[in-house]
Amino acid sequence: MSTGHRPNPTIDFDHPPADPLPLFDQWLADAKKLATPNPNAMTLATVASDGAPSARVVLLRGMSRDGARFFTNRSSRKGRELAENQRTALLFFWDELNRQVRIEGLASPTSDAESDEYFAQRPFDSRINAWASDQSEPVANRAELERRAGQLTERFTGIDVPRPPHWGGYRVSLDRIEFWQGDKYRLHDRIAYTRNADGRYTVVRLCP
Ligand SMILES: Cc1cc2nc3c(=O)[nH]c(=O)nc-3n(C[C@H](O)[C@H](O)[C@H](O)COP(=O)(O)O)c2cc1C
Repeated sequence: MSTGHRPNPTIDFDHPPADPLPLFDQWLADAKKLATPNPNAMTLATVASDGAPSARVVLLRGMSRDGARFFTNRSSRKGRELAENQRTALLFFWDELNRQVRIEGLASPTSDAESDEYFAQRPFDSRINAWASDQSEPVANRAELERRAGQLTERFTGIDVPRPPHWGGYRVSLDRIEFWQGDKYRLHDRIAYTRNADGRYTVVRLCP
């Protein structure tokens, strides 16, 4: 009986590569070829000190052996939760490719120099809005947000907008990274990499 299984073009799940990084890069590159507006969007899960999880989407801004980087307001809910508990999970889902990548690791703040460098590349309005928004705090209405942004635009026009002290990056270490490729009739392919103390990975195939 045919299972409808098609060999995967980027990976032989029975003989996976030892290093998950090039595989992730390949899958992200495949996603970037799609018409989808944010192929680098990932769900970030954090856990508050009382054990309650929360999740939201952020954009991946760089992936390396050191981890998956994103930028945000560190005074936000996620920032507060990360200050209490570094343990996080990240999730990419590319529906058109029938693929999912799950990452688990510890989130550490990027250095001031690294955050400055990234902030400086952002468009003027994005830099203004990083100042204007007390991310995750209540605000009366849209007009109030626009009033704040307008005031800051006046204040900073003609000068370099500095990075707000509460704004910066995090890098999530790649302690566990799992690749999932959907297949017909739910006989999906999964491989999970777990990082060892020497930095190399142990890889196992998992039942779908
Ligand atoms: C496609 C998409 C991309 C987003 N990218 C970011 C991002 O890179 N950084 C960020 O702080 N928020 C980003 N957000 C907003 C977050 O999902 C979230 O609303 C915000 O960070 C506040 O979350 P918090 O209250 O849990 O801290 C994005 C939302 C979407 C839908």
